[in-house]
Amino acid sequence: MVATGTGNQSGKAFYVTTPIYYVNDAPHLGHAYTTVAGDVLTRWRRQRGEQVWFLTGTDEHGQKVLRTAEAKGVTPQEWCDKLVEEAWKPLWRHLEIANDDFIRTTEKRHTDRVREFVQDLYDKGEIYQGGYEGPYCVGCEEYKLPGELLAGEGEHAGKQLCPIHKRPVEILKEENYFFKLSEYGDKLLAHYEANPGFIQPESARNEVVNFVRQGLQDLSISRSTFDWGVPIPWDDRHVIYVWVDALLNYATAVGYNQNQDTFDATFPADVHLLGKDILRFHAVIWPALLMANGLRLPGRIVANGWLLVGGEKMSKSNLTGISPRDITSHFGVDAFRWYLLRAIAYGQDGSFSWEDLAARYTSELANDYGNLASRVAAMVGKYFDGVLPEAKADGDAEKAIHDGLAKAVADADRKIGDDVEFQAGIQAIFDFVKQVNGYISDQEPWKVAKDDSPEGRARLATILYTAAESLRAVAVLLNPFMPASSQRLWESLGAEPALGALADQRVQDAGEWGRLPAGATVTKGAILFPRLEDKPTA
Ligand code: MSP
Repeated sequence: MVATGTGNQSGKAFYVTTPIYYVNDAPHLGHAYTTVAGDVLTRWRRQRGEQVWFLTGTDEHGQKVLRTAEAKGVTPQEWCDKLVEEAWKPLWRHLEIANDDFIRTTEKRHTDRVREFVQDLYDKGEIYQGGYEGPYCVGCEEYKLPGELLAGEGEHAGKQLCPIHKRPVEILKEENYFFKLSEYGDKLLAHYEANPGFIQPESARNEVVNFVRQGLQDLSISRSTFDWGVPIPWDDRHVIYVWVDALLNYATAVGYNQNQDTFDATFPADVHLLGKDILRFHAVIWPALLMANGLRLPGRIVANGWLLVGGEKMSKSNLTGISPRDITSHFGVDAFRWYLLRAIAYGQDGSFSWEDLAARYTSELANDYGNLASRVAAMVGKYFDGVLPEAKADGDAEKAIHDGLAKAVADADRKIGDDVEFQAGIQAIFDFVKQVNGYISDQEPWKVAKDDSPEGRARLATILYTAAESLRAVAVLLNPFMPASSQRLWESLGAEPALGALADQRVQDAGEWGRLPAGATVTKGAILFPRLEDKPTA
């Protein structure tokens, strides 16, 4: 059996990665989807009190990037530098992505180590020289099998097309170096068998198992027809195949062959997040490369489905790409971060639509959640001068809320933190929000407020304490998804003086009833999610 990352075994960080994205263009919604997912998982695990290392970056070599730069009339390095600094990094900052590092494959810390890794494989007899001729898709940067190709129609009549990019493949013929991938089929299958959770979701796992069962071909790992890449150490007429170069980022960024302590404290990844388009690279080639070099295998490969626009996979090349900023300028960063994980079951394909986003924003964020927060703050202001009263008259209705919260915390923690099923986790949290709304409607505090007797005051205090304390927990649970609005709620509840910073609140403690102390200063604060017609448009 091969060792796998288990995360947070003594001294090891929980290590989360996104794919490193091609910089042939600016990021679109599809890229942001996987990156936000990684960020939410990271923040969730951090709120469990775990040490987390979150890596993202850019994949800068290969023909795809080279051709784009040529078309723009600049060197590929200039192109990458510009795009990384002007488009990719700023977008991740804008979306509040809390990555610990950003690796670029043109950095020396990466290229030197890639050469060493490949040299090691060569020295171990895992690489040989040979020839290959076959259909190649530059969009995928991958040789295709003839059986996978589609027959072109219309402008592409008579040509064979890549099934993902729907563009003609090119026939490449090269003298290359090959990695003996074909020798790893049985070892990979044994690993999948022994580690049923290695590839997630189940459909992705099945696809990979079926693919490997059909038998693997050796992998061409060098290119000699262009030079935008890392030269093969023993033969600089070749550059290393961009996918081998790219996959190694997960090792080079955390100290591979450079800083053993850092490497041991981080590698391997506990969760590699990626789209299902690049599943095989991560679930087949990557583990085989690691096995060949005697390194530990990652814990889990979690594939997200495709974001579809008009039924097509969203991408720049088919002009369905939507800029994340178009969405955030209208709905805000928090709603953006929340929406895709809320609307689509992670792992399944799902359609993006403006109408659905607007509808969910209004019903779930503005009405169910935002309204609850502002009503509760307003009532504490009106009936108790903004000083959170003590709950002295708990009954069955309150008990149901305490139980509902405990369940929401347990479900959300398992779904988000363990299973990487964001939608189910968000649902657990919002079911609780609905429950609290129902509690307020049933208890009718505005009517109880008319009763001036000590019993009436105690009842009113209990209702408002229960609602505010519920919101305290909701702020903690939603913070990984929506940090800005959660912070506003935290401030409006006056939670910080007694409980400390929001990001320091532990998920494990979130369901413990009674954390928000009576006497906290509750203020109305800014509206969490302004109604769309009230928002300034971009
Ligand atoms: N450079 C490679 C990855 C190397 S990782 C060692 C690459 N880059 S990419 O820029 O094409 O990004 C692909 C990733 O972006 C997908 O795997 C997915 O995470 C995300 N997505 C891009 N478009 C997407 C959709 N339409 N839907 C969902 N995710 C999408 O492949």
